[in-house]
Amino acid sequence: MLLIKNKGLRVLCGAIETFNFLTLKLWWKNPARARAFSGKIFRDYMSLVGRDKWISRSITEILPDSKDNRIVLEHLPGDGIFNPIDELAYLALITRYLAPSKIFEIGTFRGRTALNFALNSPETCVIYTMDLPLTDRDSVSDRVNADDAAIIKASETGLYYRDRPEAVKIKQLYGDSLRFDFKPYAASMGLVFVDGAHDYTCASSDTRNAFDMVVEGGFIVWHDFANYGDYNDVTRAVVDLLPRGKVVQIENTQLAIYRKEAGDRLNLR
Ligand SMILES: C[S@@+](CC[C@H](N)C(=O)[O-])C[C@H]1O[C@@H](n2cnc3c(N)ncnc32)[C@H](O)[C@@H]1O
Repeated sequence: MLLIKNKGLRVLCGAIETFNFLTLKLWWKNPARARAFSGKIFRDYMSLVGRDKWISRSITEILPDSKDNRIVLEHLPGDGIFNPIDELAYLALITRYLAPSKIFEIGTFRGRTALNFALNSPETCVIYTMDLPLTDRDSVSDRVNADDAAIIKASETGLYYRDRPEAVKIKQLYGDSLRFDFKPYAASMGLVFVDGAHDYTCASSDTRNAFDMVVEGGFIVWHDFANYGDYNDVTRAVVDLLPRGKVVQIENTQLAIYRKEAGDRLNLR
């Protein structure tokens, strides 16, 4: 149901698919937060079933030899973004485990994840993080959904890493990811984090660029995976494009991860 293209139909089917009495109670007591409930139930289902249209695994199963990795977390406010601390911890652990020499992030926002990449990567690592220049914000806001437009408005690029010593590792890039020239970064990134706009056009274009940038053995990680609402397009784009059976949701999170292997190709129509 989560992969239905039409949003209204998807949300309706999602409500039916995940309905229970607690849903009803939540709509009664706190309707503003009830919208997120079917996504949470679906993610619980995925963690229990293990495999449906994609795979769901614990971080220990995904990185079995990642024990004894010490991570540092800088917990900053979400500022309107739902980004719980366990997801931040997984990003930090993946960074520490991979020890990449280069990281590329699409979607800086205030720099919370960029700072955490800097805190957990090797000293010589370079973190490229891109966001919209001020001049493009109005035009991009006009073409994206309401939630994304609100995030773009609240975006103060790099605010959280700006005055930090770790900022020496961070290179801020500006551009609209739909038009940005990613070629200079091709086949050179150990880790690519896709967390920009969430409509299908952007999510699939960002995914194609992430695939071209990541080295064999490197990881792509997406945020906002396995959601029913406006952000659902990320799930569809990732599942449509990536080789079958290779997308793994980190259980009970909105993070999906893929490790590039020799011979992997995107499903391009
Ligand atoms: C969800 S936020 C990123 C959050 C950040 N990674 C964190 O967790 O702290 C998404 C960001 O993507 C940016 N964005 C949206 N559309 C974009 C586009 N077409 N190109 C580049 N950046 C875009 C927005 O301005 C916003 O700052």
